[in-house]
Amino acid sequence: MVPLKRRKTSAGSAVIDNAEVIKFPHVVIFLLERRMGASRKTFLTGLGRRKGFRVEECYSPSVTHVVSENNSGEEVRDWLEAQAPGGSGTGVSAHLLDISWFTESMATGHPVGIQDRHWLQVKVEPSPTVPVFTLNAYGCQRRTPLLHHNNVLTDALLVLAENAEFNEDEGRSVAFKRAASVLKALPHTVRGMEELQGLPCLGGHSQRVIKEILEEGKSREVEATLQSQQFQAMKALTGIFGVGVKTADRWFREGLRQPSDVVDTGQKLNHTQEAGIRYYEDLNTPVTRAEADAIGQIVEEAVQAVLPGATITLTGGFRRGKPTGHDVDFLITHPEEGKEENLMPKVVSWLDDRGLLLYQKTTRNSYLEAKDGPARPPHNMDRFERCFSIFRLDRPHRRPEQQPQAGGECQAQVGGTLLGQGSEESRDWKAVRVDLVVTPASQFAFALLGWTGSQLFERELRRWAVHEKHMSLSSHALYDSTQNRYLRGSTEEEIFTHLGLEFVPPSERNA
Ligand code: UTP
Ligand code: MN
Repeated sequence: MVPLKRRKTSAGSAVIDNAEVIKFPHVVIFLLERRMGASRKTFLTGLGRRKGFRVEECYSPSVTHVVSENNSGEEVRDWLEAQAPGGSGTGVSAHLLDISWFTESMATGHPVGIQDRHWLQVKVEPSPTVPVFTLNAYGCQRRTPLLHHNNVLTDALLVLAENAEFNEDEGRSVAFKRAASVLKALPHTVRGMEELQGLPCLGGHSQRVIKEILEEGKSREVEATLQSQQFQAMKALTGIFGVGVKTADRWFREGLRQPSDVVDTGQKLNHTQEAGIRYYEDLNTPVTRAEADAIGQIVEEAVQAVLPGATITLTGGFRRGKPTGHDVDFLITHPEEGKEENLMPKVVSWLDDRGLLLYQKTTRNSYLEAKDGPARPPHNMDRFERCFSIFRLDRPHRRPEQQPQAGGECQAQVGGTLLGQGSEESRDWKAVRVDLVVTPASQFAFALLGWTGSQLFERELRRWAVHEKHMSLSSHALYDSTQNRYLRGSTEEEIFTHLGLEFVPPSERNA
């Protein structure tokens, strides 16, 4: 052992500043005291310096070789990073070495080449250029904002989802929607396939589409779909309010391609479809938030007039923060259970008397017949009513220069041919689809959760409930099959808690 006094003298001497004794200026060594101990560090420092090595007392960015004893790579890295908080962010660049490298270098008198055995093992972290991100498997476990980073990919996948719907292949359609939904939840733009590793819901087909777009800018399948006569016709025909995939497909097989063909060939239409044709152009023009709010004021007035104390709530896409929608969805309730009974016919009459409804159809909720309803419906299920309507919304402040360009030939022709009306844009009102739902106070939270969407978020909630919790969720109730009872909920937060899910605010439900 070197006597303490001499060690001190040697280690503390100024020879370090004497360039002549530093034989290897490009190797800057720092010995980590942690677990090594102060006295051993002092001894080794002196030894190194005497042999012409540059050994620093303190750690600094100029250090090239960090030597430690009995520490893991992670421990050393964490310690070093803690020395420079808020540093460059590039992490520690020095070699993290075991004491064996130092002792071997001392023995040979020069810095030995770094062998595998000298390196401290540090778990390989993903490179910052390849963001690896993990997401939960269910859409209701994720936060999906309205604006996201992967529109190019999601738009493409949603074309394929829509096409699968047109072909009545629901499984395939949902698979594409789930894949798109995962990409919507990513906090970055996907640039390479390797970034998708470990993400859920990305099936082989979706991955092929994504890969092609990343590598070639577009997907041939998506392009071909968009160009296909069938896709274009199905989109135009299902765009008619009241026309579903089955009817549109029958028409397509009969050679119909657009709404005007429906009129020209004299197809037999029900009341809903007649309204759909009559207001085709308006109903295919996005509803703005301002229009939704204007309709909200009318509905509010109607509801207060027929049942003071009742409340209306805007749901659907607008509640999720969408700036436009295909319709406007409202929930109507009264804080006192039972007061809401018979409310819908009164509201509808009030609106109709004032000429505000172009179309309306009030139905009992079809929930009882729904396959995915709970085992037994609550006793008050039959009070749940829904009104599909088309409002006649005045556009009082419309200046001529705000008027949009006349729509496609088809739309103008439709309005004219069927009903002898002029262009829909020249009118001072607009037809707007509005859904009204009356719910008892006890079911309000379930209805709010169920009607806020998105459609895929709702689907994922129900899938989660069934598969992970043995529960059955609807817009009316939550049934626990294990306990054989309904679980009460007066807020959305409570329902998420029952489901064992973290609360997701409406603006993050754009799955
Ligand atoms: P929408 O079809 O109105 O969708 O249904 P949206 O999200 O508001 O989108 P846009 O902007 O209008 O196109 C709203 C929610 O209401 C539920 C669905 O879950 C959907 O997410 N809903 C809709 C039902 O529960 N039952 C229905 O019959 C229709
Ligand atoms: Mn809606």
